[in-house]
Amino acid sequence: MHLTSMVPAAYIIAAVLFILALAGLSRHETARMGNVAGMLGMFIAVGGVITEAVTTAPRGFWVTSLLIGSAMLIGAVIGTWRARTVEMTGMPQLIAMLHSFVGLAAVLVGFNSFLAAGTEGGVAHLIEVFAGVLIGAYTLTGSLVAFGKLSGRLTSKPLMIPGRNMVNLAIVVVCVALGVWFVLVPGLLPLALMTVLGLALGWHMVASIGGGDMPVVVSMLNSYSGWAAAAAGFMLGNDLLIVTGALVGSSGAILSYLMCQAMNRSFVSVILGGFGEGTTTSSGQAREYGDYHETTAADVARELTDAKSVVITPGYGMAVAQAQYPVADLAQKLRDRGVQVRFGIHPVAGRLPGHMNVLLAEAKVPYDIVLEMDEINEDFDDTDVVLVIGANDTVNPAALDEPDSPIAGMPVLEVWKAKEVVVFKRSMNPGYAGVQNPLFFRDNSEMLFGDAKERVQDIIAAL
Ligand code: TAP
Repeated sequence: MHLTSMVPAAYIIAAVLFILALAGLSRHETARMGNVAGMLGMFIAVGGVITEAVTTAPRGFWVTSLLIGSAMLIGAVIGTWRARTVEMTGMPQLIAMLHSFVGLAAVLVGFNSFLAAGTEGGVAHLIEVFAGVLIGAYTLTGSLVAFGKLSGRLTSKPLMIPGRNMVNLAIVVVCVALGVWFVLVPGLLPLALMTVLGLALGWHMVASIGGGDMPVVVSMLNSYSGWAAAAAGFMLGNDLLIVTGALVGSSGAILSYLMCQAMNRSFVSVILGGFGEGTTTSSGQAREYGDYHETTAADVARELTDAKSVVITPGYGMAVAQAQYPVADLAQKLRDRGVQVRFGIHPVAGRLPGHMNVLLAEAKVPYDIVLEMDEINEDFDDTDVVLVIGANDTVNPAALDEPDSPIAGMPVLEVWKAKEVVVFKRSMNPGYAGVQNPLFFRDNSEMLFGDAKERVQDIIAAL
C-alpha cells in the first residue's frame, strides 16, 4: 500500500485522540491520560503531515525532507530550552506569546496562498485567504499586547481613548469594504491594507482591557488562535488542521464563556470587543478604609490549634512564592490533629485557568478537599480561620460592595464571613487589577507579612 494513502487514516486517528485529550483534561483524575492522548495524537499528526509533504512535494523528497527537518530541529531546540527554563509563574505570558505565533503563521500562510494560487480557487479561496489573514493579524498583535501586560512589560491599566468602540467599529466596517474589494478585484493592496487594520484592531482591543478582565482575554485569544489555525487549514487544504483549529477555537470559546460567567461579564460584549465596558475608571475611587492589624506566625499557629474548621484560599502569590508544598504540609498536619481543612479555589485565581489546581495537585493535596468557589462560599459562616495565601482580587469584598470598583460584579470568595482571616502577603500593595482591598482593614482580618512560603514554614515550626 502506498504510504500517502494512509495519511487520511492517520489524520482521523489523530483527531479522535485530540478529542480524547480535551475530554481527559476536563477532570483532575483523567488529566494525565488526556495529556498522553494529546501527545500521541500530535505525534501521529506530525508524522502524517511529513509523509504527505515529502511524498507529494514538487521539490522532491530529499530537499523537502531537509527543509522540514531543519525547521523541526530549530523549533525543537527552542521549544525544549523554553520548556525547561520557564517558571510556572511565567506560563501565562509564554502561552500568549505562542498564540501570537499561530496568528503570524496564519498571516504568512494567507499571503503565500494568495501569491501562489492567485484567483485559481475562486471566490471561496479568496474569502478563506482574507478571513484567515484578518483573524491571524488580530491574534498576532492582540497576543503580543497580552504578553506585554501579563509579563509586566506593559501597564495592566486599560488604554481609554475617547470613542474607542466607534474606532473598533470603523475598523471592522473598513475591513468588510476591503474584503469586498479583494473578492471583486483580487490584489495585494486590499489584502495589505486589511492586514495593517487587523494588526491595529488586535493591538487596540487588548490594550483597552484592564487587568481584571485579562483572564477572559487570554482564553479569547486562545480561541482566536484556533480559528486562525482552522483558516490556515482551509487555505492549505489540510483537513487535520481544520479539525484541530476548530477544536481549539470552540474549546477556547467555551472556556471564555465560563470565564465570563466567573467574572460576571457579558459574553456577547466580550466577543464584540466591549471588554470592561461600564466598569468605571481604571482604578475606581481612592477610599480610606482605616487601619490594618499585623500578626505573627506564632499567633496564627495558636489560632489554628484552637480551630475546628479551616479554609485555605490560595492566589497568585502562592505561585510566586512556590508555597504549595509547605501549604500542603500544613494542611496535612492540621488534618492529622482532627481539624477540617479545605481549599477554596476562585476560577480566575492566579494567572491561568486552573493555575491553583495544578499547583495543589503537584503538592499532592487530595482532590476531595479542593472545592470550587460556589461550593465553599456558603460555608465561610461556619469557618473558624481562613488562610488567604497570596490571593487579593479574588477575595476583595469591593467587588460586591462598591459599584464603582473596576472589579464590581465579579463573584469573589467571601472569606470575611469567617471568624478570623489571616492574609499572607509581602506588603499592602494591591493585586493584579490594581484595586485596594478593604478586606485587609476589617476587624476580623490580620496581615501576616513576608514571603508566603517562609511564613507558612514558620507556622509549621510553631505548631
Ligand atoms: P492577585 O490579585 O494577583 O494578588 C496576588 C497577591 O499575592 C498580591 O497582592 C501580592 O501582594 C501577593 N504576593 C505576591 N508574591 C508573594 C509572595 N512571594 N508571598 C506572599 N504574597 C505574595 O491574585 P489573585 O487573588 O489570585 O487574583 C488573580 C488576578 O489575576 C485577578 O485579578 C485575575 O483577573 C487576574 N488574572 C487571572 C488570570 C487567570 S486565567 N487566572 C489571567 C490573567 C489575569 P504583595 O506584592 O504585597 O506580596
